[in-house]
Amino acid sequence: MNLIKKLLAAPVAVLALWAVSAQAATVEELSPKSAKYAEIAERLQPVGQVCVSGQECKGVGAVAVAAGGAAMSADDVVAKYCGACHTAGVLGAPKIGDAAWKVRASAKGGVDGLLKSAIAGINAMPPKGTCATCSDDELKGAIKKMSGL
Ligand code: HEC
Repeated sequence: MNLIKKLLAAPVAVLALWAVSAQAATVEELSPKSAKYAEIAERLQPVGQVCVSGQECKGVGAVAVAAGGAAMSADDVVAKYCGACHTAGVLGAPKIGDAAWKVRASAKGGVDGLLKSAIAGINAMPPKGTCATCSDDELKGAIKKMSGL
């Protein structure tokens, strides 16, 4: 009987020690400065965020901008949308900085004429140059940027 008690007591002591050390580790890990804390905080992030137009929307960057949160710079529009075709001249697109822009502009009545065909799309170019959420001003800025006009 005594032997059985001793045999049982040993694992219980080990268990108790383990529980204490496990708890100690957890408390340490949950210090806001630890990597584990950051990892858990990251895992607890919601899967999605709703952003309301006109209000600040942290951490959603490009999506908020595309949804109309704030105007994109001409550089951003060109980099994200227009450049896909206009950098290399895909499908006959006038290349960025090319003299062909001037010819097109004078045929269409200036930058505003180019804007009209960019909004509607022209031949192989899809409407709004694939930037469906771009405002007219953003498209115009991109056209000016690419054409230098
Ligand atoms: C999928 C490829 C593609 C993308 C993306 C694209 N374009 Fe184009 N773009 C073209 C092609 C091709 C033409 C030449 C069409 C033609 O005249 O046959 C063109 C022509 C134009 C023209 C000249 C229109 C005219 O009347 O001569 C403008 C302006 C223009 N693009 C603006 C833009 C802007 C701004 C963006 C980005 C928001 C953009 N494009 C994105 C393919 C593209």
